[in-house]
Amino acid sequence: MNNDQTIGIIGTGNMGNALLKGFIESKSISTKNIYAYDADENKVKNIASELNIEKASTIDELVKVSDIIFFAVKPQNIEELLRQIPTDNSTNKLFVSVLAGTPIETFEDYLGDNAKIIRLMPNTPCLVNAGMIALSKNNYVSDKESDFIKKLLEPTGELIEVDEKDMDAVTALSGSGPAYIFMIIQAMSNAGVKLGLTQEQSLKLATQTTYGAAKLVSSTGEHPEILKDKVSSPGGTTIYALHELEDEGLRGIIMNAVEACYNRSIELKDDN
Ligand SMILES: NC(=O)c1ccc[n+]([C@@H]2O[C@H](COP(=O)([O-])OP(=O)(O)OC[C@H]3O[C@@H](n4cnc5c(N)ncnc54)[C@H](OP(=O)(O)O)[C@@H]3O)[C@@H](O)[C@H]2O)c1
Repeated sequence: MNNDQTIGIIGTGNMGNALLKGFIESKSISTKNIYAYDADENKVKNIASELNIEKASTIDELVKVSDIIFFAVKPQNIEELLRQIPTDNSTNKLFVSVLAGTPIETFEDYLGDNAKIIRLMPNTPCLVNAGMIALSKNNYVSDKESDFIKKLLEPTGELIEVDEKDMDAVTALSGSGPAYIFMIIQAMSNAGVKLGLTQEQSLKLATQTTYGAAKLVSSTGEHPEILKDKVSSPGGTTIYALHELEDEGLRGIIMNAVEACYNRSIELKDDN
């Protein structure tokens, strides 16, 4: 993999946009080597002029000029799209999917059993460069190839490699996780309003506290249990709140929620 590689992206919606901005920020590829295609012509026109990248007018053109092809369309559009991908040269290309819940096998079915496929599971904070991405790949992708993809994605957040069998667990934790945290932020903020703070003050306090707590865990590497104990002074205010949370079963509720998401992810796959 080198700087002469060309990348094509199919689908320039929310995730496609975030990826493209990340690629450029990574400085691993020149903008003249990035091509975009979208069913919505206006979308691709706008992003191409905003980011100074190339636009392809057809899927055929995009596939022809690209060494690496990213799929960033909705899962319900993928089979129709894969049917249009020319497969004559497909083993020389690297295909990368960001589609939630779509296994590598689906891509192999259309692109060939020995096509090189990487599957990513990003989350919405990728849109603000604070994402969490899990990556899995099939046996035809070399470490060098996946390292290049990791480098391209670096600006969008953190990345870990997992076995594909663990993608449902990833979905339940980091994929859907932002929604759980939004609910916690909202609940804390509502409580602030009940205690007399303004909406604006409450939301700011709850949001920055959540952000800061996460940053403290990741920056210090200390276990959350230890950090929690450090906030709880004997007979102080925090321990009273923690007792209430334990009493109401907060940890059990969250573990049950993550497990329900995991089960649903498996169920959806079995439906397809
Ligand atoms: N958004 C997230 O944070 C997030 C997180 C994790 C995973 N993902 C995954 O990322 C993928 C994209 O999500 P998104 O939120 O970016 O969706 P989106 O905003 O709807 O973008 C998808 C784009 O692809 C276009 N498109 C549909 N069919 C096409 C085709 N056959 N050829 C070319 N373009 C086509 C759509 O055009 P039209 O609008 O005209 O249909 C749209 O512009 C999804 O599979 C999702 O599972 C997203």
